[in-house]
Amino acid sequence: MAGGEKEITSVLKERRLFKPNKEFSQQAHIKSLREYERLCKKAEKDPETFWGTLAKELHWFKPWKKVLQWKPPFAKWFVGGKINVAYNCLDRHLEGWRKNKAAIIWEGEPGDTRTLTYQDLHREVCKFANVLKQEGVVKGDRVAIYMPMIPELAIAMLACARIGATHSIIFGGFSSAALRDRINDAEAKLVVTADGGYRKGSVITLKEKVDEALKGSPSVEKMVVVRRTNTPVKMRRGRDFWWHDLMKDASDHCKAVPLDSEHPLFILYTSGTTGKPKGVVHTTGGYLLGTTVTARWIFDLKDTDTYWCTADIGWVTGHSYIIYGILSNGVTSVMYEGVPTYPQPDRLWQIVDKYKVNVFYTAPTAIRALVKLGKAWPERHDLSSLRLLGTVGEPINPEAWMWYHTIIGKKKCPIVDTWWQTETGSIMISPLPGAIPTKPGSATRPFPGISVDVVDRKGAGVKPNIGGYLIIKRPWPSMLRTIWRDPKRFKNQYWSDIPGVYFTGDGARRDRDGYFWVMGRVDDVINVAGHRLGTMEVESALVSHPAVAEAAVVGRPDPIKGTGIAAFVTLEGKNKPAEKLKKALKAHVTKEIGAIARPDDIRFTENLPKTRSGKIMRRLLRDIASGNETVGDTSTLEDYTVLATLRQEDE
Ligand code: WTA
Repeated sequence: MAGGEKEITSVLKERRLFKPNKEFSQQAHIKSLREYERLCKKAEKDPETFWGTLAKELHWFKPWKKVLQWKPPFAKWFVGGKINVAYNCLDRHLEGWRKNKAAIIWEGEPGDTRTLTYQDLHREVCKFANVLKQEGVVKGDRVAIYMPMIPELAIAMLACARIGATHSIIFGGFSSAALRDRINDAEAKLVVTADGGYRKGSVITLKEKVDEALKGSPSVEKMVVVRRTNTPVKMRRGRDFWWHDLMKDASDHCKAVPLDSEHPLFILYTSGTTGKPKGVVHTTGGYLLGTTVTARWIFDLKDTDTYWCTADIGWVTGHSYIIYGILSNGVTSVMYEGVPTYPQPDRLWQIVDKYKVNVFYTAPTAIRALVKLGKAWPERHDLSSLRLLGTVGEPINPEAWMWYHTIIGKKKCPIVDTWWQTETGSIMISPLPGAIPTKPGSATRPFPGISVDVVDRKGAGVKPNIGGYLIIKRPWPSMLRTIWRDPKRFKNQYWSDIPGVYFTGDGARRDRDGYFWVMGRVDDVINVAGHRLGTMEVESALVSHPAVAEAAVVGRPDPIKGTGIAAFVTLEGKNKPAEKLKKALKAHVTKEIGAIARPDDIRFTENLPKTRSGKIMRRLLRDIASGNETVGDTSTLEDYTVLATLRQEDE
């Protein structure tokens, strides 16, 4: 558990309790602890009626016959129902006054802006859906999307949803090798990209990376390219087309296709404990219900709200809480292309002030970075429009929480610390801001209808304040359905470690008030700046370098990123440890996966500590990497001297 122990001791001391203020509670969707507990009881007693009643608020072309069909670990929600996500996010709002309400307020990194009303967005989505059809995409095909944070990204995903094409969005920071692997696993037929995107004032060249990836991706027939940065690109005849050329003549009429509730809406690749990323599959009806209801109750969304989530749509947070869950509620979603500190460290606060953002959702890593830059930056701006703040992606340390609360929220905004995963599709544990008092560092209590627990290896519940494994006991509507074309892996990965339940991979404890304190991953997944990475992925990238014989990668505490990446590397044959080689290896990982996976430290060693059965003793490496004294049983160490040597090298 990367950095876990430290976190546990620090949060254990946390005793502060922040009650929602009366004014907030009175206007909130869920107004009191009593109301929350009543909902939980109702959901516990009869989950199908609970979810079924909520699902009726969505638009269905055809009602379902059965709320849940559960053949563990495979669930089907709203069996027989026909629904379309794009219809729910767009068409529904055109019937009334919302038609000319801003759906997306977009701000580019250089400061250019665009606002799309629900009607505008609907028109663009219909047009692009027609473009996709014209280019041969049919229901069930996969479309890969590799784009900067520009409105066309939202348009492309909703267009896929409209015609039943399954999108696979790949974060624009991934390398061409990572992109190729993901395209190939999903067998995508078409790629949507851009000539480039802006990041920290420079251009990231996306089309070029796609060109490189497509050399090894035979399934792709067509590519659509948005012009964003005017970066010169090579267009291959018959394969590559400009977005604006295709859109020029496209009709803006395109009926939303009634899709089976279990039709795959998207695949999103995420890191697991092996070198190969997993294609997490989310389907239509249940996912939309989960994201819609959680967004409404947790962000307390109102029609008057301007909501902003700073995540990238390339991660699940952007899928669920920039686009689907927000637009289905008919709310205005702000979308920003660039980094929080460009051109200056007050960019986020400048945007909050400019658009009078009411609800703001970001990651602890961003908060920590901004804390370090000082409170003078937020103090330059009027943040009085803010009424609710949220965090996601990793445990938030109480210090960062308090800064967020006082400096940004001016002590009047509730903070929702939301725990969830790519796999869960929507938020599972979080305060309902008008109902649940918060404690800095705790995601507090489960969403009604979500049955979470902390257990030991055998699945038995543990006592309050004892650490254990965080599990989910019952199926929920927005759960992942499988791993793309690998149901066996789905079963092994999530449903085998602890009998009969979904294992999250996280460690947690629950306090006497029933509050959950998530401690971090207990498997070989690390959370770097809120981005999930498998240590195995980084290891395979390192080992693919000709100079490397073996590598072990672990997390170590980092004051800003939460967790940093430390790599222990043994070299092949005659290669000598040298600074130059360290640099080359870091560059190699960047090329193989992307800059997010670049190791912070590389340490060369002659051997890695292993058990007799050949397993690398990561616990020891973690201790060394984080400078802790090694404790625990080392009697299974194959070679005691290795540990001593690694320690010495450290000094
Ligand atoms: C971690 C991001 C503590 C956790 C939505 C989880 C958190 C992993 C929190 C999923 C939180 C996410 N407190 N830890 N509020 N939110 N995590 O798939 O370890 O990118 O398993 O989804 O992030 O990361 P993923």
